[in-house]
Amino acid sequence: PAWALSRGSVRPAPRRRGGRRHAEVNGRKKTFTELQTERLEQAERTVLIKCPSKISEKKLLQYLSSHGKINSHFFFENRGIHALIEFSDKNSIASLQDVIGIPGATEHHVVPFKSRLFTFTMKNLVAQAAAETQIRLSPQSHIPVKDLIQKLCGADSISSQMYTLLNEYQLTEENIKLRYLACSLVSDFARAYFPDSVVKPFGSSVNTFGKLGCDVDMFLDFNEARKHIKKMTKGPFEMEYQLKRLPSERLATQKILSVIGDCLDHFGPGCVSVQKILNARCPLVKFSHQPTGFQCDLSVSNSIAIKSSELLYIYGCLDSRVRALVFSIRCWARVHGLTNSVPGAWITNFSLTMMVIFFLQKRSPPIIPTVDQLRALADDEDRHVIGSYDCSFVSDLSKINPTKNTETLDELLYSFFEYFGSFDFRKNSINLRKGKEVNKPESCPLYIWNPFEQDLNISKNVNQPQLEKFVALARESAWILKKEDKTQRMISKEPWGLAALLIPFGKNNPNTIKNRAKGIGSETIKSLLDSLKLSNVNNLQKAVGK
Ligand code: GTP
Ligand code: MG
Repeated sequence: PAWALSRGSVRPAPRRRGGRRHAEVNGRKKTFTELQTERLEQAERTVLIKCPSKISEKKLLQYLSSHGKINSHFFFENRGIHALIEFSDKNSIASLQDVIGIPGATEHHVVPFKSRLFTFTMKNLVAQAAAETQIRLSPQSHIPVKDLIQKLCGADSISSQMYTLLNEYQLTEENIKLRYLACSLVSDFARAYFPDSVVKPFGSSVNTFGKLGCDVDMFLDFNEARKHIKKMTKGPFEMEYQLKRLPSERLATQKILSVIGDCLDHFGPGCVSVQKILNARCPLVKFSHQPTGFQCDLSVSNSIAIKSSELLYIYGCLDSRVRALVFSIRCWARVHGLTNSVPGAWITNFSLTMMVIFFLQKRSPPIIPTVDQLRALADDEDRHVIGSYDCSFVSDLSKINPTKNTETLDELLYSFFEYFGSFDFRKNSINLRKGKEVNKPESCPLYIWNPFEQDLNISKNVNQPQLEKFVALARESAWILKKEDKTQRMISKEPWGLAALLIPFGKNNPNTIKNRAKGIGSETIKSLLDSLKLSNVNNLQKAVGK
């Protein structure tokens, strides 16, 4: 049994949404790699059709069915109505492409590339549509925070508030399909240069922690071709393999991304604002993919980042409390300006997720295992060594024993804030391999060990003021959760529990310390107040280091 199944008191993760369905193979859940392969293959059989605003769903499907069986489809709004159509056979796409006209070359100066993006123009189907029932549009973004807060106020516990947030924010099955389709459409392009390459998603699109609206991180993978080459080394020939020999891997990566970036910019249907960022630590091409509506980051195969995505995927699947807590903390951090979509000295979502994972490893009994424990469960097929780093860990979820921990999310949310509100950041670092605090190896304000490259700090970018802000907000949040009278707040229709934490702390938030401290004389609260005054930094420095 998986960890998540062991807990009677915990609600199962909502089923309707994507990423939660685990098709089985040979009586066990599919691994990350198996799921990814399946979704990539599905995406290759998929097309995107721009439709008129009034359309007969039945007629459209009837028409398309003449090119082959349709496995699944849905409609969504993105500067007009679009339909994603997944055929059961890839050949149906060629059949459809054969009957679709290409715009006249003299008017449009077209590049003769047959894409999988179509516009539906059949007039008579449109005319009939008015009389029919409206098509259902699948939402591709989450509700605004203020609507979320209102929804949360109607829940009956903090746990159910946290599951409500998860359910509203997490990627849907449809949105995941669209993400894989975006990768597959970019693959079509990349293959014009590099026929054996595949474009695959990584990061929060696949690690179970993505929220609707997050970017699509994708990478160009040559590993399939490399595996093939390895097998062929016995003969007398050596191939001048695709690329010229270049002096460094970094230079090769930059050259590859440079041509693909230009290609997407000049000829990629719907690819706009293409930006080549080749001198970054991890070179990438940024662009906006208009047909799917995604902001995309394309890089070249980065095995460590892919392994990190799989590790987070494993943690996200083990226990339903993991994703509920991560989503709540990420949302909380965003509301209070701890995270930001622009890179800078802010804590990243990736670092925050690692902090939540670490916190859950530290519970007694632990809710999730350490990376070393997952490594001990790895079998030969899971062995994965990248450079000098051992990145092996178990891929079969059913091999991981269930946790005995029965804490509720109410308790965990409070304890998270309490734990990090008093964490000795000056002295200690966060190590997910061992699931233990260890002495900081260098004097960065926040040190979180990269689980696979043990000498790297994934939160090196975070500066002292940002860490102090995190600690102050964690303390204030713990204080609000501890002090609040839920019944009273519900009667007076004020935001309570998680909802109270998602309103910026300031004059308008009835829960915050300044507004509530009048008349409270207890020593503990006084000292807490003192520690929060940023002009009086002594206490805070003790906690966060300087
Ligand atoms: P959101 O996009 O914010 O939803 O989360 P994300 O996990 O996708 O983060 P992001 O797009 O910034 O990065 C994509 C992936 O790159 C992450 O999931 C990690 O695998 C990897 N990554 C990002 N930042 C770091 C870092 O500082 N160190 C390491 N080792 N990997 C990182
Ligand atoms: Mg991302």
